[in-house]
Amino acid sequence: MIEWTPNLSTGVPALDDQHKAIFQWLAELESATADQRTLFGVYVITRLKHYMREHFAAEEAMMKAAGYPDLVPHQAEHAEFRARLEELQLKSIGEDISADTVSFLNHWLTNHIAHTDMAYVPYLKRDGI
Ligand SMILES: [Fe+2]
Ligand SMILES: [Fe+2]
Repeated sequence: MIEWTPNLSTGVPALDDQHKAIFQWLAELESATADQRTLFGVYVITRLKHYMREHFAAEEAMMKAAGYPDLVPHQAEHAEFRARLEELQLKSIGEDISADTVSFLNHWLTNHIAHTDMAYVPYLKRDGI
């Protein structure tokens, strides 16, 4: 079962809420894949793509405001993931999303939050965000 877990908490409620919503979309994608609901899968990946864009923009704005020194490599990870989602969205129109793809997205997100996102937490806290 794909879900947000408390060990992924950044301590910033707005960002945690966004991360939780992203995991909910991923869980929807997992069930769409398991039931081979192709059209629903296309819908979910489209929502996920829009939602990630909004989340990444919010996160980048906070890092910028806090003067976070590793903003550029963090943005590069976001850009790479967005490009990957773009590819998957196009692919999802012609074929079902595979369980491997869902697992890739889940691992990427978990790993990104646990390492890359966590690195900005002290800077945001210092800034009173
Ligand atoms: Fe994030
Ligand atoms: Fe991030």
